[in-house]
Amino acid sequence: MSDNSLPFDEKYCPSTATISSGQKRKEDWEKSIKNPQEYWSEKAKAIDWFKPFSKVLDDSNPPFYQWFPDGELNISYNALDRHMKGVRKNKLAYIWEGEMGEVKTYTYYQLYREVNKLAKVFKDYGIKKGDRIAVFLPVIPELPITLLATARVGGVHTVVFSGFSAEALADRVNDCGARILVTADGSFRRGKPVGIKDNADRALPNMPNVEKVIVVKRTGQPIQMKEGRDVWYADALASAGANAYVEPESMKSCDPLFILYTSGTTGKPKGVQHGTGGYLVWAYWTLKWAFNPTDEDIYWCVADIGWITGHTYNVYAPLSLGITAFLFEGTPDYPAQDRWWEMIERHGVSILYGTPTAVRMFMKFGEQWATKHDLSSLRLLGSVGEPINPEAWKWYYRVIGKEKLPIIDTWWQTETGGFMISPAAGIELTPLKPGSATLPLPSVNADIFDEKGQSVQPGTKGVVVIKSPWPGMLQTIWKDPERFKQTYFGKFPGLYYSGDFAIRDPDGYFWFLGRADEVLKVAGHRIGTTELESALVAHPAVSEAAVMGKEDAVKGEVPVAFVVLRSGFQPSEELRAELVKHVRVAIGPIATPEAVVFVNKLPKTRSGKIMRRLLKAVLSGAPLGDTSTIEDEGSIEDIKATYNDLRKQLSK
Ligand code: WTA
Repeated sequence: MSDNSLPFDEKYCPSTATISSGQKRKEDWEKSIKNPQEYWSEKAKAIDWFKPFSKVLDDSNPPFYQWFPDGELNISYNALDRHMKGVRKNKLAYIWEGEMGEVKTYTYYQLYREVNKLAKVFKDYGIKKGDRIAVFLPVIPELPITLLATARVGGVHTVVFSGFSAEALADRVNDCGARILVTADGSFRRGKPVGIKDNADRALPNMPNVEKVIVVKRTGQPIQMKEGRDVWYADALASAGANAYVEPESMKSCDPLFILYTSGTTGKPKGVQHGTGGYLVWAYWTLKWAFNPTDEDIYWCVADIGWITGHTYNVYAPLSLGITAFLFEGTPDYPAQDRWWEMIERHGVSILYGTPTAVRMFMKFGEQWATKHDLSSLRLLGSVGEPINPEAWKWYYRVIGKEKLPIIDTWWQTETGGFMISPAAGIELTPLKPGSATLPLPSVNADIFDEKGQSVQPGTKGVVVIKSPWPGMLQTIWKDPERFKQTYFGKFPGLYYSGDFAIRDPDGYFWFLGRADEVLKVAGHRIGTTELESALVAHPAVSEAAVMGKEDAVKGEVPVAFVVLRSGFQPSEELRAELVKHVRVAIGPIATPEAVVFVNKLPKTRSGKIMRRLLKAVLSGAPLGDTSTIEDEGSIEDIKATYNDLRKQLSK
């Protein structure tokens, strides 16, 4: 790991923060691991319980852990009602800016009123505890309002990223059996309206469970409204009455709060299910530990609420902490390449939680776009979604942070609910190393294992495992507890398998090295190669497909498809374009293959499995590497010939 193992460098101890030895953080971590019951019974007091819990963790049926099992609470009460009693009532909860520059603000009180109205609408539609509500919205204020209203009536939300296709929407909505769909006519992208309801309309005939569709008017573009089923959001809220109030349901700590579909190693996305009490406690504390936001902050997490980062760090964590969050609908380089920096200056954003892909894109645009703005309101920078390479880290630190602001690189996953490994400005600022997510947060018992399940020495690459439960962990996979057990606790029995490679340095710092499985991170979006492969083979011209990630200077990686055609079909530019379009229609634009390479056959092992390692080597131009293991897979001569042949076809 020579170029990754940067020694501790005083230069990256930001001068505005007091750096201590790391002792306090270490002590806190040890306490949390030694006595999780005591640790969490204290921490859980930060949120309001309708019925206090008598037990912190029920671990009698692993891996189905139950946090605060007999406690009861409501998450919308914690995000809103409890702020009604004090000074936060009239404080801004959200400042929202749309793609076209329009700005809307909501105080906690205003948000509370809107949430109550929508909750009343849900009640009037007969939504009961445990019913699912699907959400297909762009980042507009109605999105967090819908989540909070769902939680208020005890429903379970499932947000489908608004860029997903009709097919992807229907798969997810049908898997969870949602009764209501909340969507919008459209949203704005690069200054132009794009349709959302039209996509939903294509999916609705295949979503028999959906009884009602509530439509937010965002763009005003013409859309179809089906009599009796579709209703405008504004009309629905008006019918609830201006002063609607809905008593928040008392939820058991382990009642599900949401299902969020995410990609794994099979073709079907997994419905990751999160609960109420453990998740909220984790959301609250992880944000406090990592960023320590205060009442003075304007906090901006750039993630779309369609992904976990937006769920936890645009909705539940900031609102339960009572801080002011900034939300942005749109594109980072519209109308100009300084959109972020211009907004940070105009709104006085003080915490920027961004992504490596965005940083690399801004590096490409040139630093003049950032330096022409006054960014002095910023006090903390964050990063999430993929490993941040040291060059991007240093650029972020120098150009945006003016060599003063800490970079909080948070490693975590949809499944973990919140941050797991991260610097902790809220405990004591961890000394930083460019490109490292640093150390596990309290209660995160992380280790790095080799294939055999042995903990590896510092400097050796392995896969990250978590050895004890933590409050934010997923509860199960919706309707598929077996898959939950196998996927996460089957590889090393009883331990949580993350699917991420990492190396630990001699100081115990974690350096993440990407996925160990067939999951891609394209611009931070999580996409399963098998999902892309299934989409491709569904096309009549395709007999077999293998999709691999190829390194990309901005997006981290991009999908490249190797495709074998059925007899009767010839490779052509038209077919290539058609296959790309086909994937966009099947999954959505985020899954667009960067290239489609037509090949005569795919390299296979003796047992018939596609040799992914060989394809990866072909793409990166790297040598084949260790042939001793390849030997088990087939004849070396054949493999070398295939490698050379594929390299030739790729360069065409
Ligand atoms: C990757 C996003 C390195 C990782 C929160 C993980 C990261 C996957 C980081 C989860 C980071 C996320 N450094 N890698 N700071 N943050 N990842 O479920 O591969 O969309 O497994 O959750 O993103 O992606 P997901």
